Amino acid sequence: MKKRIAIFASGSGSNAQKIMEHFKKHPEAEVCIVLTNNPEAYVLQRADNFEIPTHVFDKQEFYNTNGLVDLLKNLQVDIIVLAGFLWLIPQNLLKAFPNKIINIHPALLPKYGGKGMYGDFVHQAVLTNRDAESGITIHFVNENFDEGEIIHQARFKIEKGDDLEMLKFKGQQLEHHHFPRIIEHLLKKMKSSI
Ligand code: GRF
Repeated sequence: MKKRIAIFASGSGSNAQKIMEHFKKHPEAEVCIVLTNNPEAYVLQRADNFEIPTHVFDKQEFYNTNGLVDLLKNLQVDIIVLAGFLWLIPQNLLKAFPNKIINIHPALLPKYGGKGMYGDFVHQAVLTNRDAESGITIHFVNENFDEGEIIHQARFKIEKGDDLEMLKFKGQQLEHHHFPRIIEHLLKKMKSSI
C-alpha cells in the first residue's frame, strides 16, 4: 500500500500544490486528503483539480472533538504536513501521530518563530534587522509554535535592495523545491504505517 499524506493548509496552498504535483504519479506515496479551517481557501480548489478529497473543519471540531484523529486514522495517514496552517496543533493529534506531523516556516528557526511570526511579519522582521541571509525551515511539530526538532533548512542571501516581495519570492522558491523532497525522504525512512 502507498504511504499516505494528509495536508493541512489555510490559504493559497502553493506548497500544497507542489506536494500534490510531486506525488501525483508517485509509485510509493500519495496525498489522500487536504484539510482546512478556511472554507474560502484557494487550496480547496487546488485539491479539487487533483481530485483529492477535502475536509473543512472549525475550531470546535479541531479543539473539542476527536473527529480529525478518527478521520486521519481511518484514512491510515502516515504523515501530516502543515503547509501554511496557523492553528496550534492539539494534544490529541500530537499523541496520535508522534513524530509524524511536520511544518514549514519561512525563516531560519529558531530566529523569527513563535506566535504572530508568519508571512510578511517574518520577512519584515528580517529586513528590519538587516540580516545578511534568510531561508526556510522544515521541522517536526510539537505543542509550541515553531519549536519542534528541525529536519531541514535551506538559505538564501539577501542582496542590497531586496524588498519584502523579493524575500518572499526567494523563500517560496526554496520551499517549493525542498518540501516535497523532504516529505518523500521522511516517508522512505518510515517502515510501516501507524
Ligand atoms: C509558506 O510561506 C510557509 O512557510 C508558511 O505559510 C506559507 C504558505 O504559503 N508556513 P502557501 O499557501 O503554500 O502559498
